[in-house]
Parts: sequence; structure tokens; C-alpha cells
Amino acid sequence: MKLTATQLEQFDRDGYLLFPGLFTPQEMRVLNDEVPRLYAQHRPENVREKGSDAVRTNFAAHLYSYPFAKLARHPRMVDPVRQLFGEDVYMHQFKINGKNAFDGDVWQWHQDYGTWLNDDQMPEPRAMNIAIFLDEVNEFNGPLMFIPGSHKLGALEAGHDTTTTSYPLWTIDNDTIRKLVERGGMVAPKGPVGTMLMFHSCLVHASGSNLSPWNRVSVYLSLCAVSNHIRRFKRPEYIAHRDFTPIKTLPDDCLLKHYDVELPWKNGTPEAALKPALAA
Ligand code: SIN
Ligand code: MN
Repeated sequence: MKLTATQLEQFDRDGYLLFPGLFTPQEMRVLNDEVPRLYAQHRPENVREKGSDAVRTNFAAHLYSYPFAKLARHPRMVDPVRQLFGEDVYMHQFKINGKNAFDGDVWQWHQDYGTWLNDDQMPEPRAMNIAIFLDEVNEFNGPLMFIPGSHKLGALEAGHDTTTTSYPLWTIDNDTIRKLVERGGMVAPKGPVGTMLMFHSCLVHASGSNLSPWNRVSVYLSLCAVSNHIRRFKRPEYIAHRDFTPIKTLPDDCLLKHYDVELPWKNGTPEAALKPALAA
């Protein structure tokens, strides 16, 4: 899949692109059938919400789940990012966020690059999130909120918030957000199951809690240009990957047909992936 000149202009101006219903209901069924099994597992990759059993986020399923291993190599997700960076990409992070009905907690205002810079020493904002909605995203179930154009400002000052939710994040203060919203406004891209959303790593974003009776499960690939790989291995490997091998894409029908993929963490997470390490 190639981005058109109009899409490239839009991405440059706004910092994100929305592709409503890009994946078919049959393709989405393959992924959705797998999520309950993943969320039920007791492994460190499942981070639960504060004071609840609901899974906030599941990390690295592409290393132990067959359908998600294929998604991690899907040309509809990988090619647009490769095109934008003009080079091969590797998987920096892979997560399936639950945002469960009633229990899904907030994600505070932040830029992804804030965390990738401060924790992982990623040299440049040459990595980005590309997400698929596994559930419909509507105005009630905690859609992502973006400040269009904020990606042009580069990395903003951020503080390390380790208390608001169960997951530490480098967040941006309210005064800065107020000023940015006065200038750029806010949007909350919504869409049916199978919608794809890509956004620049400096785009300022957040999401509210999910008080609706509908889950808002989404899967995020954080793809990084290979030359821009992280320089510090402070976070466990299941959160910030240390394998910078370029992703080799599968054919476009890969979710519906069999293709051989490796599942190296199928029988558990390697000890070394649970701990900080010295960078290579
Ligand atoms: C994120 O910002 O990484 C996730 C936000 C969300 O899933 O709402
Ligand atoms: Mn984020």
C-alpha cells in the first residue's frame, strides 16, 4: 500500500492519517478471536489497570501469537511507514491496548517520542505508531485525542508520571496543553472495526477513561527506522525491543492464509527480556 501525494501532504500538515475500515470483518475476526486468550494469560507482558484485573495493555504478542505475528508483518501497516522514512523499519514496540468497558483508564497527554527519547535514547523521532481498531471507536469509549499540527514542535518538555495509572509515562503539563489546543484545536478520530490510524511520534495525544459498556481494543505497532534504533536498554525488552532486524512483509492476504512465522516466546518470556541490559 502506497500513500498518495495528498495523504503525504495531509500527514505533514496534521501529523496523522485515518483509514476507515481498511481491514475486512473476516480479517478482524482472526485477530479478535485471539485477544481473550492473550489477555487471560498470566505473563509479564499483560499490564493490568490500577486496582482491577482488566488488561490495560498486552506487550509483544507478535512474538508468541500466530495471528499477531502475521499482523506485525502486514504490508498495509508496514509499507506506509517504510515509505515515509525512506528506509527499512523494525518493531520497537508492539501492544494491544484493552481500554475495557467501564474499567479502561486514561492515557495522559504525551508524545510517544518523549518516552522513546527519555527512556530508550532513540536518536530522532523517526519511529511512529500505526494502529488498528479491533473494536469500533466512538465518542463514548475513550477515543484517542490529537492536537493536529503539534508534531511540528519536536520533543516537548515532559515529566515522568509513575503514579496516575499502572503504567509510567513521560507526560506534558496542563498549561502547555491549553496553549497547544488554543493554537491547533483537538480531534478524536473514530471509525469502525478494521480502521487503521497512523500518527507521528511527536503528535501530542491522550485518551480519556472508558465509562461506556463497550471495549475499545486497539493494536499498535511502533515501527522505527532501522538506522534510528534505540541506544539504551533500560526498559525490559518486551516493552522496548532490542532486535533491530528489518521487518520482512508477508503478502496482503496473510491474515486469512497460512504463512510460516517464528514465535520465539511461545513457551514463555526469556529471562533476559525481563531486565535492563547494557546496549550492544
Ligand atoms: C498510547 O498513547 O500509547 C495509547 C493510548 C490509547 O490507547 O488510548
Ligand atoms: Mn502514545
